[in-house]
Amino acid sequence: MSKATKYISRVPDDKGLIDWSDEENSIWQELLARQLSHIEGTVCDEYLVGLKLLNFPADRIPQLEEVSVVLRATTGWQCEPVPALIGFGEFFKLLSEKKFPVATFIRSREEFDYLQEPDIFHEIFGHCPLLTNPSFANYTEAYGKMGLNASKEDRIFLARLYWFTVEFGLLDTPKGLRVYGGGIISSPSETKYALYDETPERKSLSAKNVLDVLRTPYRIDIMQPIYFMLKEITDLDKIREYEISEIMDLVEQAKKLGLFEAKFQPKQTKKAS
Ligand SMILES: [Fe+2]
Repeated sequence: MSKATKYISRVPDDKGLIDWSDEENSIWQELLARQLSHIEGTVCDEYLVGLKLLNFPADRIPQLEEVSVVLRATTGWQCEPVPALIGFGEFFKLLSEKKFPVATFIRSREEFDYLQEPDIFHEIFGHCPLLTNPSFANYTEAYGKMGLNASKEDRIFLARLYWFTVEFGLLDTPKGLRVYGGGIISSPSETKYALYDETPERKSLSAKNVLDVLRTPYRIDIMQPIYFMLKEITDLDKIREYEISEIMDLVEQAKKLGLFEAKFQPKQTKKAS
């Protein structure tokens, strides 16, 4: 979250509107069409309900207020325009206030398939439909509150919770595996991989093994070797209630026990020349 980025967020005018260019709108149009062609039978029902309510424009980037109107009416959330990268402190504060941070830039064509920075397409298409769901919305708000007073070190543990639920969570439903994590939903290749590939490990997640999540390392720039599955989206209510009372104890336990062995190679860092 503190890394450099080549992207600069667009600044909304005094009415909160952003004057997106034709090229930016056409990138949205293509991303949306491509992603919509992959959601049949892959995303969870709660996401589809939210998608219908939000009714994204096909040919242009929606203004944040258009999305916020629907979120306010369903769960009391709203979108908040932020710079391309924000610190953990700001991130937790916004979530605790039911404001979903949306970086107001869209990826370039060179990074059409993959980018590490979350852009407006990822935030709006990947997350906002689920933010109309009370279980998901309440969980995300509670997560923000948990992080507000946590130390820098503790926040690194908390970040894994967000990663393996809000970003890369799966549901093991009677109809089959479904995605609710926005990091997967906004990537067609990872959607296929997470649901159908035999390579990744898929572990069940409940209030009983939140500690395992805190101890599981991840890399942001690869397909995930491990996913955590809930049975249904309302499991987030039980996890939230459990975490509210236990999370800091769990973080202490995770620190003592240490991380599980990584299922991936360490990231190659470029040597300074
Ligand atoms: Fe995200």
